[in-house]
Amino acid sequence: MGYVKLVFFMIFPFLCQLSLSFCSSLSHLCPKDQALALQQFKHMFTISHDASDYCFDITGQSIQSYPKTLSWNKSTDCCSWDGVYCDETTGKVIELNLTCSKLQGRFHSNSSLFQLSNLKWLDLSGNDFSGSLISPKFGELSSLKHLDLSFSSFTGLIPAEISRLSKLQVLSIESSLLRFEPHNFELLLKNLTQLRELYFYGVNISSTIPLNFSSYLTTLHLRNTQLYGTLPEGIFHLSNLESLAFLEIPQLTVRFPTTKWNSSASLQMLNLYSVNATGRIPESFGHLTSLHTLILASCNLSGSIPKPLWNLTNIELLYLDDNHLEGSISDFFRFGKLRFSSLGNNNFNGKLDFLSFNRWTQLALLDFSFNSLTGSIPSNVSGIQNLHLLRLSSNHLNGTIPSWIFSLPSLTHLNLSDNHFSGNIQEFKSQTLDIVSLKQNQLQGPIPKSLLNQRDLFYLILSHNNLSGQIASTICNLTILTVLDLGSNNLEGTIPLCLGEMSQLMILDLSNNSLSGIINTTLSIGNELRVIKFDGNKLEGKVPQSLINCKYLAVLDLSNNELSDTFPKWLGALLELQILNLRSNKFYGPIKDSRTDSLFAQIRVIDLSSNGFSGDFPVRLFENFETMKISSEKSGTREYVGDISDDYTISLIVTTKGLELELPRVLTTNIIINLSNNRFEGQIPIIIGDLIGLRTLNLSHNRLEGDIPASLHHLSVLESLDLSYNKISGEIPQQLVSLTFLAVLNLSHNHLVGCIPKGKQFDTFENSSYQGNDGLRGLPLSKDCGGDEGVPQAANLYGIDQEEEGGDSAIISWQAVLMGYGCGLVIGLSIIYTMLSTQYPAWISRMDVELEHKILTRMRKHKKRH
Ligand SMILES: *[C@@H]1O[C@H](CO)[C@@H](O)[C@H](O)[C@H]1NC(C)=O
Ligand SMILES: *[C@@H]1O[C@H](CO)[C@@H](O)[C@H](O)[C@H]1NC(C)=O
Ligand SMILES: *[C@@H]1O[C@H](CO)[C@@H](O)[C@H](O)[C@H]1NC(C)=O
Ligand SMILES: *[C@@H]1O[C@H](CO)[C@@H](O)[C@H](O)[C@H]1NC(C)=O
Ligand SMILES: *[C@@H]1O[C@H](CO)[C@@H](O)[C@H](O)[C@H]1NC(C)=O
Ligand SMILES: *[C@@H]1O[C@H](CO)[C@@H](O)[C@H](O)[C@H]1NC(C)=O
Ligand SMILES: *[C@@H]1O[C@H](CO)[C@@H](O)[C@H](O)[C@H]1NC(C)=O
Ligand SMILES: *[C@@H]1O[C@H](CO)[C@@H](O)[C@H](O)[C@H]1NC(C)=O
Ligand SMILES: *[C@@H]1O[C@H](CO)[C@@H](O)[C@H](O)[C@H]1NC(C)=O
Ligand SMILES: *[C@@H]1O[C@H](CO)[C@@H](O)[C@H](O)[C@H]1NC(C)=O
Ligand SMILES: *[C@@H]1O[C@H](CO)[C@@H](O)[C@H](O)[C@H]1NC(C)=O
Repeated sequence: MGYVKLVFFMIFPFLCQLSLSFCSSLSHLCPKDQALALQQFKHMFTISHDASDYCFDITGQSIQSYPKTLSWNKSTDCCSWDGVYCDETTGKVIELNLTCSKLQGRFHSNSSLFQLSNLKWLDLSGNDFSGSLISPKFGELSSLKHLDLSFSSFTGLIPAEISRLSKLQVLSIESSLLRFEPHNFELLLKNLTQLRELYFYGVNISSTIPLNFSSYLTTLHLRNTQLYGTLPEGIFHLSNLESLAFLEIPQLTVRFPTTKWNSSASLQMLNLYSVNATGRIPESFGHLTSLHTLILASCNLSGSIPKPLWNLTNIELLYLDDNHLEGSISDFFRFGKLRFSSLGNNNFNGKLDFLSFNRWTQLALLDFSFNSLTGSIPSNVSGIQNLHLLRLSSNHLNGTIPSWIFSLPSLTHLNLSDNHFSGNIQEFKSQTLDIVSLKQNQLQGPIPKSLLNQRDLFYLILSHNNLSGQIASTICNLTILTVLDLGSNNLEGTIPLCLGEMSQLMILDLSNNSLSGIINTTLSIGNELRVIKFDGNKLEGKVPQSLINCKYLAVLDLSNNELSDTFPKWLGALLELQILNLRSNKFYGPIKDSRTDSLFAQIRVIDLSSNGFSGDFPVRLFENFETMKISSEKSGTREYVGDISDDYTISLIVTTKGLELELPRVLTTNIIINLSNNRFEGQIPIIIGDLIGLRTLNLSHNRLEGDIPASLHHLSVLESLDLSYNKISGEIPQQLVSLTFLAVLNLSHNHLVGCIPKGKQFDTFENSSYQGNDGLRGLPLSKDCGGDEGVPQAANLYGIDQEEEGGDSAIISWQAVLMGYGCGLVIGLSIIYTMLSTQYPAWISRMDVELEHKILTRMRKHKKRH
């Protein structure tokens, strides 16, 4: 009898595999209570299509999401249900794989799941448990070896009872709304002595890292966990360790062992992105002979790369970007298996041209941007075929761009901007380009035709070169183009008519070329344009009426052309318009008075200077400038007008403080009115005093009369006031002394009389501020104003330097931005894209898909704003 039973149990599973229906009709393998528990569990949740948006397994492979519980049918054996696995002898459910099953609903402590007490393997990741707490009852599933609760919207405290799962070998938890009670993380690690893989993402582990880890540990990934203190050196000595990642924990101090690591034979992946590893990379890294992935980015590292590191010839991925590393990279070529390499934003120097590029037959990504490399790119390279991303921007490289780069068959991202490259841009062989930036070089010749034939191109930035020829209308075939910057070249001809039909275009910069003719491009309804810069060309005719279709337009710069039109007041209906620059054209006629609500409500910079405008000062127009009526003094954060991408910034030529300056970016606090060099008449209206955000007011070289309104003293952040060359009369209002930010004042060549006010800034202005006003008296003019003898003339304490120190200088902050560069929108996107499309280390993609998701969300927000 006993023998028969044994045989039956040996054969039974085999029979079941032969015929499921036979088995289920023969007997229910799955005990009733287990089937019932599963059914009850199923009915606690609804199936929701967006409950499994985020679906990647531990290794980063994407998982197909589908509602597994739909197949859980009472009339079939529960062991045959999707995601359910039973013990072959007892029939008890031992594995439950419900990853990405579109489950949505609260997960209560009375859940029937906890009746499945034999579970060894439980994966609930990628569902939406809608902010449920992790029940302490998980601690009762004492047979569990594998538990995955990641990406399932759990919140609250992770119960201490989890530590009872002393057989756990794999534990994965993700949620930024989860946290540990102090010491519970330590307890967990102490009790889980069998642990092999641990993944905690986003969980608030606000404690130091305990010293004792399971010696079986092969994988330890902690990301964005609020750990603090110093990483115990013991972690590097775990002898089975294969993959170690501490990411985005900037307050965590890491000190590397200086001796041989016990993990050195097994460790394949080391990722310390954004932790505090202040100091040098020690020579002990030379022992990590199994390492294929090394990420030490944004770690505060300095010094040169130690020689032994170059011995790690198995390295396939090397990211050292965003540190203070220096020295030559002359041994770099020894990494013959390199596929992904990013050393950007350091101080590496030396030449590129010795590099044996030919060894890197697998190379897909190479980023040396923002370093101090010199020399030229080697030209006789043939081995590289797989390169997708090449960034050498912001170095001191020169020579021509060699043909092998243009011949790369799968190039997607090329950024060689800010170097000294010369020669022509050749035709590209690749058909998959998405980003091309070659700005700030000395490139010449025409825009290659092959660039205009790229389906995936969304950034094309060729500005600040010597490119010539016309802009072909085939450029409009770039249907997803978002940024087109061809500014500061020698392009000629007309603006292609079809440009206005490019539905994705957000930035269109054709400034400072020799474009001519009428702008008869029709900007189509529903376009996405934020920035149009046509300034510095020879354009004629009128402002195109179709601009009214650009409802997101923030910047319109038509300055320095030969446009001949009346004031396009209708542009005021563009609710997002912040900068309107029409300076140096042939605009004419009066600006008609009419107060219309929300006309030009967002305007921050309006420059109508050097035109032929005439008639009365446009008082009613000024009444509309609502944004200027808000004090910008207290705004804590710096924001720039039209900031959409880190690779394109809006520069603007402004006249302020008596100088013509090019601002590389325009701070939103930079509020400017310039009506100079026209033929405006009448009085300066009192309501100008309401525009309290004004920094620069220039009304010089007009025909203005009457008094200086005392209301100007409300302009408490005004830095530059120029009213020179008008017919202004009366006295200078004493109240203007309260303008403590005023660095430059020019009232010269008017009909002012009386005494010059004394005190504060007024003690710093020189003669030139007042000359040509015969009736003015007092310091600094030689004509006394009574009782002033002996007061020494103040030196010019301010002037343009004040801007440098004033904390609000666009120039300074631009440099700061350059230094902080490194996680920009575009780099992020394309590095991720490259990694995904070349299938590299799966675990990285899991993290980066998340990042990409954030980036894309950010992009969409930019697009959707308002
Ligand atoms: C369950 O399975 C039986 C037999 O295969 C079938 O007739 C029935 O429609 C199924 N029920 C559901 C809800 O799928
Ligand atoms: C769990 O199910 C998913 C499909 O939803 C599958 O991709 C994965 O391989 C399963 N895991 C195991 C360990 O069977
Ligand atoms: C489980 O608990 C929740 C909340 O405490 C309650 O709403 C639900 O009815 C309970 N379910 C069962 C089956 O007891
Ligand atoms: C740690 O594990 C032991 C058994 O291995 C158990 O008795 C103890 O309760 C656990 N501690 C916690 C806090 O879960
Ligand atoms: C993390 O938890 C600690 C207390 O445990 C708390 O002080 C801290 O604010 C939390 N941090 C975040 C980012 O939630
Ligand atoms: C670490 O574990 C060892 C041996 O298991 C023990 O002697 C030591 O006290 C533990 N250290 C800590 C800090 O728990
Ligand atoms: C980073 O580590 C260095 C030395 O290890 C220390 O001086 C510094 O305070 C740490 N910085 C932070 C932010 O913890
Ligand atoms: C690195 O390689 C050189 C020879 O290329 C050898 O002399 C040296 O010992 C190696 N260093 C380590 C740490 O393996
Ligand atoms: C490139 O720059 C190097 C100095 O870094 C200089 O010696 C060389 O002549 C330059 N080559 C060209 C073509 O300008
Ligand atoms: C541009 O697109 C049109 C239609 O999609 C096509 O006929 C034409 O050949 C394309 N031009 C180029 C240069 O690819
Ligand atoms: C556009 O303007 C140019 C002159 O600048 C003219 O030659 C051309 O015919 C115009 N095209 C259309 C469609 O109006």
